[in-house]
Amino acid sequence: MSGLYERLEEYCNSEYYPFHMPGHKRRSLTDMEPYRYDITEIDGFDNLHEPEGILRIAMDEAAELYGTKKTYFMVNGSSGGLLAAISAVTDNNDKILVARNCHKSVYNAIYLKRLYPVYVYPEYIPKMGINGGINASDVERKLRENDNVKAVVITSPTYEGIVSDVRAIADVTHRYGAVLIVDEAHGAHFSMNEAIPESANQRGADIVIQSMHKTLPALTQTALLHVNGNVVNVTEVEKYFHIYQTSSPSYVLMASMDKCLDFLKSDGDNMFEAYVRRMQAIHAHCRKLTHIRVLDSSIKGKYSVYDMDLSKLVISVKGTGYTGHMLYKKLLDDYKLQMEMASGDYVIAMTSVMDTEEGLLRLFSALAGIDRDIRVYGKKGVFVANDEYKAENAVVINTFWETDNMEQERVSMSHAPGRISAEWIYLYPPGIPIVAPGEMITGEIVQLIHKYNESGLVVRGIQDKSLGYVNVLKEDFKALKLGRL
Ligand SMILES: Cc1ncc(COP(=O)(O)O)c(C=O)c1O
Repeated sequence: MSGLYERLEEYCNSEYYPFHMPGHKRRSLTDMEPYRYDITEIDGFDNLHEPEGILRIAMDEAAELYGTKKTYFMVNGSSGGLLAAISAVTDNNDKILVARNCHKSVYNAIYLKRLYPVYVYPEYIPKMGINGGINASDVERKLRENDNVKAVVITSPTYEGIVSDVRAIADVTHRYGAVLIVDEAHGAHFSMNEAIPESANQRGADIVIQSMHKTLPALTQTALLHVNGNVVNVTEVEKYFHIYQTSSPSYVLMASMDKCLDFLKSDGDNMFEAYVRRMQAIHAHCRKLTHIRVLDSSIKGKYSVYDMDLSKLVISVKGTGYTGHMLYKKLLDDYKLQMEMASGDYVIAMTSVMDTEEGLLRLFSALAGIDRDIRVYGKKGVFVANDEYKAENAVVINTFWETDNMEQERVSMSHAPGRISAEWIYLYPPGIPIVAPGEMITGEIVQLIHKYNESGLVVRGIQDKSLGYVNVLKEDFKALKLGRL
């Protein structure tokens, strides 16, 4: 017996406070007991794959609330939504323009549909060591340079809460005859209050995917796929929706979505009003810290950042004696505050309308304490990898799905520079590839991988967890280039 249940029970009865998803923060909107409410498609409960009754009504109400043409309940997260959306608007071997900082599921869709990705890169915010927004003029340049791009996919907001100018990107995308898909997995709460960014649904995107479970009080795996405008073939979306959803969607999950939508309609305005006030206060307190910096709306208008989601607390220790991982461990061990993730120089605390004032105060007083310690710690610049590696200009020799049938070999990491990767290498979260199969491994990438590892972050994807070896293609890139390009 693994003891998973007992461990969960113990954890949930402990004093650890969740600054991570799901957005319900382990507080229920209902008295729902999962075993008592877990049914299947019995009479009176409709069928998600052919909704005509109660689920049809629930989804139509969701479309009304979000101001969309059509909205679908997804029980397989935004991952399922992104797979369905990309599959629906492309044919095999089509070209797709993708923001490089997209989630793994976008790459999975490219893999399954055998698409040719063209990458557009977000701007980079050096003082925080994070990605900024996607610039519409970069999207336009890529569309001009590449014929017949069927779809553009961007992530807005990012994991860090950075919102791109979706309206400008939508205009450019439509001018070139492509469809705009916005991964708004972290923005299901958008448009719910004036101080919270407007959703891509209101800014010209054709398909928008949102994880309800990330930022709203709904159970893990719940998500929404929205269709807007007239360019998307809804029948195709539904075809892939059926492919990527289980044939046994959980009524417990769907009921939690329904309850969450009720909550937004009935109490949303008041709850979001109070939440925004709490978050504005915490951002104001954080601005007074000496060493720790928290990303806030002052970034708007720079680095292609159109807007900023105040629900994300991106807490940076860049330029101090701490790394993101050290801050994460300190908050966890000394203050019993569980963060969503740690990266090189920062941690992310995810907040939601369900956070208590007490929880937020605990976080702020922990940060104030650590801010004082950092001065004692003294040493500057422990982790600087993000200064050196900006995830720009991946050297794509062939697409990752083309590498499947190519001969591979294992080489030591020190001999990897100049070779073509046969593996995915990424940090999770956020799941954005550092290198994808078919791309050249540079010396810079090898250095970065070691730095991440040394600073306590887990580098994933790669088979050799000790990071001594990496699988690469046998042929060198010159031969491949001659053969294919
Ligand atoms: C930007 C982004 N898109 C999509 C996803 C996938 O969402 P889900 O976990 O709901 O499948 C994630 C998950 O973390 C994400 O961060």
